[in-house]
Amino acid sequence: MNNSIIDVKHLTKKFKDFVAVNDISFAVTKGEIVAFLGPNGAGKTTTIKMLTTLLVPTSGSVRLSNSDVVSHQEETRRTFGIVFQDPSLDDELTAWENLEYHGVLYGVEKNIRHGRIEELMKFVELWDRKNALVKTFSGGMKRRLEIARGLLHHPKIFFLDEPTIGLDPQTRNHMWNYVVNLNKKENITIFFTTHYIEEAEKVAQRIIVIDHGKIIATGTPKELTIKTNSKTLEEAFLKYTGHAIRDESVSSADAMRARRGMWRHH
Ligand SMILES: Nc1ncnc2c1ncn2[C@@H]1O[C@H](COP(=O)(O)OP(=O)(O)OP(=O)(O)O)[C@@H](O)[C@H]1O
Ligand SMILES: [Mg+2]
Repeated sequence: MNNSIIDVKHLTKKFKDFVAVNDISFAVTKGEIVAFLGPNGAGKTTTIKMLTTLLVPTSGSVRLSNSDVVSHQEETRRTFGIVFQDPSLDDELTAWENLEYHGVLYGVEKNIRHGRIEELMKFVELWDRKNALVKTFSGGMKRRLEIARGLLHHPKIFFLDEPTIGLDPQTRNHMWNYVVNLNKKENITIFFTTHYIEEAEKVAQRIIVIDHGKIIATGTPKELTIKTNSKTLEEAFLKYTGHAIRDESVSSADAMRARRGMWRHH
């Protein structure tokens, strides 16, 4: 037994000959808030998918709350909630229906479920829109609803893969306030990725930097800044990876669309 709620050992993922995640090991303590940072293509989403049973590792192991995610898939799935990099709500359903469906899938009992849905929709300030179709929601509202959905089954760990991409600064701020509150209120462990350095700096207690599938640094924002003799965390990130945390050569909206694969339809 150990005290880590997330325990990753020698985790590797290969896609044919390409090594997307290359022998990484790290642990996260219960209640910790960790930012997982790296340039585009570094291996963040691939890692999170292995941590959340969506991809089977090529080798190595992942334990959540001391259960192996491969041999105890169903059991570990109940321990975490996730907000994906790509939105995954059903646009044709109402906000309430989206949560209800998720709750049924996770086997949250009806008498608890409806109270929990109400509590969470109030928490993300969408209760007055509960009967509106999700397709009428703004990007920020959809993200908030995804957060509510990810929390419905009382997870101990919350994974967020770029939850704030494409949102305006005020909405991003607002969203992180929810998440940090949640961590304080329910001691939920938070593991997230972002391309906004200020979010990592403000929210994370510890940062893990990944590049080319390898972990190249870990520490508090301050430690990483000091270790690299930098003035800012952004500068530290640049020194570690040789890349700015956000690729400014394309507008962020274009980058977002490209990464969501929307160009394929044109
Ligand atoms: N299913 C797949 N088949 C082949 N290659 C893949 C697959 N999924 C990811 N990759 C490759 O693995 C590498 C890591 O991808 P991943 O999505 O994990 O990066 P990321 O760090 O999340 O990047 P971003 O910041 O752009 O989201 C990339 O080179 C990507 O092209
Ligand atoms: Mg990604």
